[in-house]
Amino acid sequence: MKGVRIVGFGHYCPENIVTNKDLENIVDTSDDWIIKRTGIKERRISNGEGTVELAYKAALEALKNCNLSSEDIDLIIVSTISPDRMMPSTACSVQGLLGCNNAAAFDLSAACSGFVYSILTASSLLKATDKKRALVIGAETLSKIIDWSDRSTCVLFGDGAGAAILEVSDEEDGIISTCFYADGKQGETSLVAGELELNTPFAKEAMAENMYMTMNGREVFRFAVTVLPSIVNELLEKAGESIENIKYIVPHQANYRIISEASRRLRVKDDKFYVNVDKYGNTSGASVPIALSELLEKGLIKRGDKIILAAFGGGLTWAGALIKL
Ligand code: UT7
Repeated sequence: MKGVRIVGFGHYCPENIVTNKDLENIVDTSDDWIIKRTGIKERRISNGEGTVELAYKAALEALKNCNLSSEDIDLIIVSTISPDRMMPSTACSVQGLLGCNNAAAFDLSAACSGFVYSILTASSLLKATDKKRALVIGAETLSKIIDWSDRSTCVLFGDGAGAAILEVSDEEDGIISTCFYADGKQGETSLVAGELELNTPFAKEAMAENMYMTMNGREVFRFAVTVLPSIVNELLEKAGESIENIKYIVPHQANYRIISEASRRLRVKDDKFYVNVDKYGNTSGASVPIALSELLEKGLIKRGDKIILAAFGGGLTWAGALIKL
């Protein structure tokens, strides 16, 4: 049985910083409310770069960080819910820009859990086929599906991209335990965006209602504080591992209160969780790989460390992976 290791990360976020104070000029909100309820201080909002460009720049960073060239990549998966176009996929556009001529490429849609879903998909494909290296990217320009007049959502989200490179290895498998789930019924009522209209000569429907993000914040909050600890417990149990041996839990960065509540339920210190939601807000599928890339950049994780990735969001979906780097 082949093993798979994650050998490198990279990230890229737009330079344009939008602070809570900036948002006070757009909607009826306050810096104090946003910080107290979410922990978010600022987010990056694109002023021109699309999802493909963010994904491409994050991929370049990841390739550079592991001294690989575009020709070394055999598979590209991009997790996004905010693509620039329906077709070609973001992954194909990135493949073309990078010149990864040997790589198959496709997008995967699982909202905020999308990067973790993509890691599981890529590692399974590497084990099952003759492909040797995969580039997995989470990239979002959520700013284009946000209703900037809705204070209950527009203060929460940001744009960005993160990337990881997975490689077939002769060593033991780096993906130690996994879990992934969905609840489509609950997803219909709690988190919806990007609805397209069915308006043809053959069928006339009412205008699509949910082009922009709508969210039942309290419902999603309750869901998140339940599944985040349960992902961690399931991964540890499946791996026969104890939390003390985990260097970091890297959660989806939705809200500091969710992470803090999860750490209370798991009886671990807050700093077991890596948090950067204060700087980027919620970047959906990009949040976990941006956090991973930052951890590596800061020298906080190294080869051999065990970490847990845990994500939850639209769909509803939730997923996790216990990884040895
Ligand atoms: O990536 C995936 C998913 N998303 C999440 O994980 C988000 C999960 N949910 C949350 O993080 C929280 O529910 C929110 C941060 C979205 C909201 O926090 P909350 O403590 O659940 O607030 P709330 O929705 O219960 O609203 C409390 C009050 C309301 O006013 P009233 O009815 O008490 O007068 C809201 O109208 O806060 C008001 N409010 C705001 N006030 C100032 C809502 N948004 C804002 C705002 N600024 N931006």
